[in-house]
Amino acid sequence: MSKAVILTGLRANNDLHLGNYLGALLPMVDMANKHAGEYQINLFVPDLHSFTTPIDHSQLYNQTLQNIKAFVATGLALDNPDIHIYRQSFIPAHSELTWILDCFTYFGKMARMTQFKDKIRQLRNSLAHAIEGYGDIGGKSTQEVEESDALLDEIRGANASIGLFNYPVLMAADILLYGASYVPVGDDQTQHLEFTRDIAERLNKQFGDLFEVPKPAAEQHKFFGKDQGLRIRDLQDPTKKMSKSDETGNGVIFLSDTPEVARKKIMSATTDSLGKVAYDYDKQPGVSNLLDILKLLGGNIDEFSSQTQYGPLKEAVANKVADFLTDFQQKLKAVDEDTIIKKLEASEKAMNEQANQTLHKVQQAVGLRPKT
Ligand code: TRP
Repeated sequence: MSKAVILTGLRANNDLHLGNYLGALLPMVDMANKHAGEYQINLFVPDLHSFTTPIDHSQLYNQTLQNIKAFVATGLALDNPDIHIYRQSFIPAHSELTWILDCFTYFGKMARMTQFKDKIRQLRNSLAHAIEGYGDIGGKSTQEVEESDALLDEIRGANASIGLFNYPVLMAADILLYGASYVPVGDDQTQHLEFTRDIAERLNKQFGDLFEVPKPAAEQHKFFGKDQGLRIRDLQDPTKKMSKSDETGNGVIFLSDTPEVARKKIMSATTDSLGKVAYDYDKQPGVSNLLDILKLLGGNIDEFSSQTQYGPLKEAVANKVADFLTDFQQKLKAVDEDTIIKKLEASEKAMNEQANQTLHKVQQAVGLRPKT
């Protein structure tokens, strides 16, 4: 019998930061190295997902390779035969299955997807921002622009692609092609996982057993434990998560920051005036965030508990982060691109075979291929 599949997308993302590392790269690499042997592990870069919102296309291809390098520098094993690392667009079955699933997907359901609505809102806000830069348009102030529903509809129409709308269907294809049981996704993706289960069950009902239905979210959480989805906060505003879209960059430690720059950012992190080191995200988000960073990087947090000064804690975190960056950047430099390309090509060959088998079953079921 073949092994059960764990599958996840490594979102191509430039400017990786410490929040990505501690919240995504590290847990994912630990997960893969831990479960390989018992499971087939599919780690793929959803490159077709990358331009659901505007990006710099001239960077995409290399960005994908850079991202995979970051995973390898984090410790992902390239020589493990149970771990497959591949690029979505190199497996044409993803696009083909998406079209078929599209025709079984209801418009209303997609339009209610939370992430779709959030992204629309973001696109709209960034456009309103751009407009602001040009003064007013059509005699309207920025505020009026923001309040004008008709104009917002226009903006929405002009900027949100069908791809953005359709994205959960592609994600369902990503999962169903390989019969994945376990898909570690953050809260923002739970709805898409539920959609995947829903469409798989519906098609199974209509056509007989076509798809392995992934486990429900609650079982996923039990399986992966709580290291999934941890959010490191912004250093300047610890009520927000660390994000590359932070305007000044002072609250964000980029993996490309020099150790000195990172050290300064940590030393000027926002704390509070309670004067006591305690782990409490409601009352002391800044201090709690620093404790989390220290702990996840392997530091000892016990020695700081109940201290009345924040200086020593910051100093310890700054040292830890600086050491981590020095080490990570060295490892990243040492990653050999040829080895990565070879691994990708081998995985892509194997995954094309698996994906095409599922696709063929579906094509037969819907009448595109003769039944044997
Ligand atoms: N949508 C996921 C994200 O934004 C990335 C992704 C694409 C994914 N396809 C997937 C994750 C399939 C898990 C399974 O993070």
